[in-house]
Amino acid sequence: MGILERFWLVILIAAPLAAIVAEPAPIAKHGCPDMCGNVSIPYPFGTREGCYYNEDFLISCDNTFSPPLAFLRNGNINVTNITLEGRVHTTQFIAKNCHDKFGNQTQSYQAWFRLWLNGIYTISDTENKFVAIGCDTIASVQGFQGKKSYTTGCISKCDSIDYVANYTCSGIGCCQTSIPTRTSFIKVRVNSTDRHRGVWNFSPCSYGFIVEESKFNFSSNDLLDLQNVLEKPMVLDWSIRDDTHACNKTEKANACQRNSDCVPVDDGYRCKCSKGFEGNPYLPGGCRDIDECLDSSRNDCKDMKCINTEGSYNCSCLKGYHLVVIKDEQGCVANQRHDWIRILLPVGKYTFYSTSK
Ligand SMILES: *[C@@H]1O[C@H](CO)[C@@H](O)[C@H](O)[C@H]1NC(C)=O
Ligand SMILES: *[C@@H]1O[C@H](CO)[C@@H](O)[C@H](O)[C@H]1NC(C)=O
Ligand SMILES: *[C@@H]1O[C@H](CO)[C@@H](O)[C@H](O)[C@H]1NC(C)=O
Ligand SMILES: *[C@@H]1O[C@H](CO)[C@@H](O)[C@H](O)[C@H]1NC(C)=O
Ligand SMILES: *[C@@H]1O[C@H](CO)[C@@H](O)[C@H](O)[C@H]1NC(C)=O
Ligand SMILES: *[C@@H]1O[C@H](CO)[C@@H](O)[C@H](O)[C@H]1NC(C)=O
Ligand SMILES: *[C@@H]1O[C@H](CO)[C@@H](O)[C@H](O)[C@H]1NC(C)=O
Ligand SMILES: *[C@@H]1O[C@H](CO)[C@@H](O)[C@H](O)[C@H]1NC(C)=O
Ligand SMILES: *[C@@H]1O[C@H](CO)[C@@H](O)[C@H](O)[C@H]1NC(C)=O
Repeated sequence: MGILERFWLVILIAAPLAAIVAEPAPIAKHGCPDMCGNVSIPYPFGTREGCYYNEDFLISCDNTFSPPLAFLRNGNINVTNITLEGRVHTTQFIAKNCHDKFGNQTQSYQAWFRLWLNGIYTISDTENKFVAIGCDTIASVQGFQGKKSYTTGCISKCDSIDYVANYTCSGIGCCQTSIPTRTSFIKVRVNSTDRHRGVWNFSPCSYGFIVEESKFNFSSNDLLDLQNVLEKPMVLDWSIRDDTHACNKTEKANACQRNSDCVPVDDGYRCKCSKGFEGNPYLPGGCRDIDECLDSSRNDCKDMKCINTEGSYNCSCLKGYHLVVIKDEQGCVANQRHDWIRILLPVGKYTFYSTSK
């Protein structure tokens, strides 16, 4: 077979193959909805029986909203994003305690809220902070880690808006604290020491909330503007809790499917595609091989032929060709025909071996 014929043969075979492989991997079980409004729902989550791993992973899709809204189980916690890396992005209420200019409490807000999470969720201690805002503000968060409880919080007092600096939550007008790990129940409370008298014109309220740190940037305008904000973004961690020791057991004793690894976390485990594989490790069929050869940034074969293997790839020369290294460049040239090829084609990225990819 001539060089050109071989070249075209490779192109013709490769094109339809590439089209098949490029199809996006499914994220939900076959026949199950994989979206609720703007939120994608990857298995083990699902919107109905037969679609989730177990009932803890139920996401209720409320179609009375437009676009539809996703909620955790049957509760009222809004879901905005779900990742297979173990995070669920949600929104959560702000506790508020406001006063009028006489120091009388304005009754239209909740000065506290509580949040129970089911077994698979905890509040992410790495992604969130507890934040309190106000110039006459005491805020606390009481939390439970299993049966153990803790209380933490902070105080912010200021006489004048002039001391309140933008973009820093450092204690004046805004204070923050970390949340302990593995919290599954919280109660957030806010109060004041002097009912906002004296600061009422620029800080009529105390606010307390748990917020995704990367989405929070304090501004002095928050002192007034948060009156009109109901919720803030908050991140939950999730894991499969059906068997704490699942990762130590033999294959199939846990939810991790083919070509994936079991990763123990806190009180449960998660699954992760093994190196060289991608997709949803929880779905029947497991993770799919990454064809590194389709994407030059995923292999370093350069001008050599890239051979995809399960979980990896090899670089080699076509049969009848051999590896030649010229300075730092390497490539494949035909056995024996070395000489006339060198004469016909300049060495470099235009030599014919670049077509043997
Ligand atoms: C949903 O996505 C659309 C289009 O990307 C966007 O305009 C809309 O604001 C989103 N809605 C919500 C609730 O995030
Ligand atoms: C859920 O989130 C949407 C969009 O952010 C918001 O309009 C709605 O009020 C929220 N509902 C509840 C019950 O939290
Ligand atoms: C959800 O999270 C993933 C992973 O962090 C991100 O790539 C994606 O853009 C997010 N989707 C939305 C709608 O925020
Ligand atoms: C608010 O406080 C003032 C002064 O303390 C009092 O006279 C008034 O009755 C209060 N108003 C209400 C609505 O409670
Ligand atoms: C903080 O920034 C807001 C705009 O985001 C501005 O209106 C306000 O005056 C600034 N406050 C201070 C103290 O600089
Ligand atoms: C706020 O503090 C006052 C006394 O300082 C107390 O009477 C009141 O019950 C507190 N409110 C809340 C919601 O904790
Ligand atoms: C907060 O917002 C200001 C103004 O937009 C920006 O300069 C600053 O980098 C932001 N800080 C954070 C931590 O995002
Ligand atoms: C599981 O394996 C880890 C590491 O090999 C070990 O530390 C742990 O004690 C094991 N747990 C059980 C329940 O066997
Ligand atoms: C890839 O290379 C390895 C090690 O050199 C070899 O064992 C294996 O057979 C090669 N696989 C293919 C498909 O060429």
